[in-house]
Amino acid sequence: MASRSADRADASQFGVYLHWPFCLSKCPYCDFNSHVRRAAIDEARFVRAFAAEIASTAARVPGRTVSSIFFGGGTPSLMQPQTVAAVLDAVARHWRVAPDAEITLEANPTSVEASRFRGYRAAGVNRVSLGVQALDDRALAELGRLHSAREALDAVGIARSVFDRISFDLIYARPGQTPQDWAGELKCALVEAGEHLSLYQLTIEPDTPFASLHAAGKLKIPDEDIARALYDTTQDICAAHGLPAYEISNHARPGGECRHNLIYWRAHEYAGIGPGAHGRLDIDGARYATATEKRPEQWLARVENDGHGLVSDDPLTREEIADELLLMGLRLAEGIDPARYAVVAGRALDPARIAALQENGLVEITAAGRLRVSMPGFPILDAVVADLAA
Ligand SMILES: C[S@@+](CC[C@H](N)C(=O)[O-])C[C@H]1O[C@@H](n2cnc3c(N)ncnc32)[C@H](O)[C@@H]1O
Ligand code: SF4
Repeated sequence: MASRSADRADASQFGVYLHWPFCLSKCPYCDFNSHVRRAAIDEARFVRAFAAEIASTAARVPGRTVSSIFFGGGTPSLMQPQTVAAVLDAVARHWRVAPDAEITLEANPTSVEASRFRGYRAAGVNRVSLGVQALDDRALAELGRLHSAREALDAVGIARSVFDRISFDLIYARPGQTPQDWAGELKCALVEAGEHLSLYQLTIEPDTPFASLHAAGKLKIPDEDIARALYDTTQDICAAHGLPAYEISNHARPGGECRHNLIYWRAHEYAGIGPGAHGRLDIDGARYATATEKRPEQWLARVENDGHGLVSDDPLTREEIADELLLMGLRLAEGIDPARYAVVAGRALDPARIAALQENGLVEITAAGRLRVSMPGFPILDAVVADLAA
């Protein structure tokens, strides 16, 4: 049975995610939907297809006010600024865009891309998120990155001079990295940081070159104890510098949180446009999970034939919606509202399970009655969620 949409989402929050699926080269750790093409990309053709998919999505969820737009990838900073402008125009033709909407573009930190930042701002982008990954040239080479630490920091500087809001990503728990190394690198990063940092532990994703090297014993990542020490170092240093974690991997000064990602974590509504994009749409009292064709050329062909690239479009059950609320919401330091969970799930969370997790120091109930994961619980978040959802 599907649950009433009003029980789930704040109607003032509606996000549009747009996926640009191309990169200049494929990083060996990455399993995002990103593709390398020898030939130039026909951006005008993509603009027409994005506009068509925006139109078909807006026909299903009309009348929304867009509070956030996010160009993710892949490498959206390979798009020409006029391509970004044309896609933003298409969004604004079909929905109202809030005057204070957050409009983010993910960028790789090379000089070529930084040269486009002013064009993106003129197109309407007001926030960039840069994939710096490391501030150490050897580590960057091992990660297969095409930029040096200097070039990345220069791009961060240019981004800060063009945009009021910027973020950058670093990957830690890299091969051979000690908590001391990471503490030094993180402190340098914090000197350059704006209001937001994403700090991801290296994950060995299946079917990547890193997975093969790891399986062959040629890539040794920090063991559980060191990974835990690296995580604790991250929390302590960022909090001391005024950027506490507001989500398991994301840190911000108060007010600098990424509003787009909050839409996902707070289980609000969002449209997914472009190859391999996911969406959650509230239609006639049901919540639909949508996904589009991942392969760029096949996605184009589908959109050109059918007006959309959807390969799945299914109403979620109450149980599935409630599980997502837990899975996403408990990543946040603010946690979840148990009353909202009860309305969505049609049953309350089990008080005995909450009490047992509380006794073990893994979850807390805040003064406002919210349920949240405590610091010792975050490194084992999946297990905590599985226990609560059971
Ligand atoms: C879509 S990618 C970033 C955008 C841009 N293409 C770039 O690489 O600069 C989003 C972020 O995910 C992180 N990421 C990707 N694969 C990862 C992995 N296997 N482990 C940890 N973080 C990863 C990286 O920090 C990356 O910047
Ligand atoms: S990390 Fe970024 S640049 Fe590298 S393959 Fe993934 S999406 Fe592309």
